Amino acid sequence: MMIAVMGAAGRVGSQVADLLLREGASIRVLEHRRPLATLRQRGAEVMIGTALDDEALLALFTGASAALVLLPEDLADPQFVANRSRMSRAIASALREARVPYVVALSSVGADRADTAGPPAGLWEFERHLFGLDETNALALRSAFYMDNLLANLPLIQMQRINGSAVRGDLRFPMVATRDVAQEAAGRLIRRDFAGHQVKLLLGPEDVSMEEATSLIGSLLGLPDLPYIQFPPARVKDALRAAGMSDEVASLLVGMQLALNQGRPFTGIHRTVESTTPTRLVEFLRDALAVGRA
Ligand SMILES: NC(=O)c1ccc[n+]([C@@H]2O[C@H](COP(=O)([O-])OP(=O)(O)OC[C@H]3O[C@@H](n4cnc5c(N)ncnc54)[C@H](OP(=O)(O)O)[C@@H]3O)[C@@H](O)[C@H]2O)c1
Repeated sequence: MMIAVMGAAGRVGSQVADLLLREGASIRVLEHRRPLATLRQRGAEVMIGTALDDEALLALFTGASAALVLLPEDLADPQFVANRSRMSRAIASALREARVPYVVALSSVGADRADTAGPPAGLWEFERHLFGLDETNALALRSAFYMDNLLANLPLIQMQRINGSAVRGDLRFPMVATRDVAQEAAGRLIRRDFAGHQVKLLLGPEDVSMEEATSLIGSLLGLPDLPYIQFPPARVKDALRAAGMSDEVASLLVGMQLALNQGRPFTGIHRTVESTTPTRLVEFLRDALAVGRA
């Protein structure tokens, strides 16, 4: 019984691979750019390739009893949308050909609408392809904003002593730790306790605003007065491009931040016992920032 894992160098996938190995599962991972030598040493079978290559995907999924799938985000890709659409189709068709019986997909709040802003629009298409697989039990984990995204602003915070984005500072929205997403994904891949095509929301334990998040980051970094500034969209886009993102991706991410200000995609999304995950932002930041300083 082997479980195939996409994205094993990434934030969620690496933690899923680790949890599965700890549980004694056999895993096969897809090495893309970052080497997966540590997983190989721990017994994982490592295949090399890209999610744009049908044969690499088929090799990854053949013989798997279950698979973790995701739509990789290459933020430097000038054709981000078109390539993610290609990957969506390639992943679904390889799963079909390999007849993988159980699939857990990393998706996002907002993936229920084709017109959702930013990268989740690609996840709408991804889910549609996965839910079109008649012989596959598929569970889409629709996560809120990953807390881990906040760490991308650490260089700005450390160099300029400010935090900011185009998101309104006082707007509260759900944030989830990738460790909780990975815990759910690994558990479901092992238990395979889902049937047909299912969706599960993962919303973290609380809604948090960027001002609150900034104040927590500031106090943990010894910068108690760290301000959060709502930057004009054009300035955010320039900063994202300067950080190496393609023009297309920078526009998508700014569009997503502006949509958040209008209440999308979280309007009508309510936290329940089922969708609540344990890690609070303060706990996540304590661990993440302690590691960062070590
Ligand atoms: N960010 C959010 O707030 C959020 C919220 C909800 C859902 N999501 C979804 O969650 C998914 C996983 O997030 P994450 O943070 O774990 O991602 P991540 O840290 O960016 O990791 C991406 C993984 O995909 C691999 N990869 C990149 N391009 C690839 C390609 N062309 N072919 C095969 N593999 C490739 C990367 O490997 P290399 O590094 O070796 O290239 C890495 O292992 C995202 O793709 C997104 O769809 C994100």
